[in-house]
Amino acid sequence: MIDQSTTRPTIYFDHAATTPCDPRVVEAMLPHFTDVFGNPGSRNHSFGWAAERAIDTARRQVADLLGADRKEIIFTSGATESNNLAIKGAAAMYQKAPAGSPSRGHIISCIIEHKAVLDPCQRLEKEGFDATFLHPGADGVITADMVQSAMRDDTILVTLMWANNEIGVINEIPDIGALCHDRGVVFHTDATQWVGKMPVNVKTDNIDLLSLSGHKIYGPKGVGALYVRRRRPRVRLVALQEGGGQERGYRSGTLNVTGIVGLGKACELFMNEMDDERERLYGLRKKLEATITSRLDNVQINGHPDKRLPHLTNISFGFVEGESLMMATKEIAMSSGSACTSASLEPSYVLKGLGIGDDLAHSSLRMSLGRWTTPEEVDYAADAIVEAVVKLRALSPLYDMYKEGIDITKIEWAAH
Ligand SMILES: Cc1ncc(COP(=O)(O)O)c(C=O)c1O
Repeated sequence: MIDQSTTRPTIYFDHAATTPCDPRVVEAMLPHFTDVFGNPGSRNHSFGWAAERAIDTARRQVADLLGADRKEIIFTSGATESNNLAIKGAAAMYQKAPAGSPSRGHIISCIIEHKAVLDPCQRLEKEGFDATFLHPGADGVITADMVQSAMRDDTILVTLMWANNEIGVINEIPDIGALCHDRGVVFHTDATQWVGKMPVNVKTDNIDLLSLSGHKIYGPKGVGALYVRRRRPRVRLVALQEGGGQERGYRSGTLNVTGIVGLGKACELFMNEMDDERERLYGLRKKLEATITSRLDNVQINGHPDKRLPHLTNISFGFVEGESLMMATKEIAMSSGSACTSASLEPSYVLKGLGIGDDLAHSSLRMSLGRWTTPEEVDYAADAIVEAVVKLRALSPLYDMYKEGIDITKIEWAAH
């Protein structure tokens, strides 16, 4: 990983890890640190009422972006908490048998989900639920047919991300939701990477539970939301924490007013700007990919070529180690895997889940563009990456052998 204390990246291509706060978001938040600082739970004075009004506005702003009713929005600390509440809360509510029984119900998810979904599902497995983790094909997409084949009579919950955080590939969420509704199965989607990039209408997209996070959408860190459908069908959850009963009892604890105001403002900005931003980012991402792939051999874009988010690309560079490439292009902040799991140098489980071998998985970079990315930055980064790959390959004996036409997969290495 880049040591930010010695080298400061000047180009930020890691918007899938986190985004800066939009100054308009900060401006909306500021009064709530000092002047409008009341507790929205204080029902008997104007400080509380003012805070409550701010929360109501934010709830409407989030609901509007999702096509939801404001009563369907539960504020949380981020997508990790939203996912935990959705998955564990729905499992506990719709279980077929009580805790202690061996077969409490069946859950469907996928092997390339974020850890904030995989870990709660694995926890439920330990507690007597069965889980099926679907394997995507080489394109990374989970289809409604795949979900249909995994459905069982005792399936109670399907949880699948809308778009993948490492490869940006998009699942068939509205079709999967329709299938779940036909079967009376609760459907949750982790839409952390989708919201703000692509349009959402929870009603017509057939979603029961949807997680989102403030810091991926130019809002603050430490705040997120869970959409919980109230009609056709009404979905209920068992709360994970007890206390003051805030958020309809689903999420006790004094509300993070500043964060929630920021999240609301971030959502409102997308209502007006999302379409233009999507087109612009799509153009920049395509340009980045085209420059790199036209100037280098042995590169591959991972995941489905078209069913993908506009701003994110994941590229494997054969014969180059991803970490070395990042060291050689320190002025560009990128990720060699999911930022949330890159503390370890294991090859990315997402890329491995697509059937990509360890070598290529280790040689991959995720680049995710954002609101303030310029065409000049894209040109600069593409040139810098191409140059660095050429230099690193010049030092690679394997690349030499490959150039000489030797099939390196057939080499038998001597053990000493
Ligand atoms: C798909 C996905 N889900 C969940 C999370 C966790 O979000 P948060 O940081 O808000 O807990 C992330 C963050 O990387 C993500 O990309």
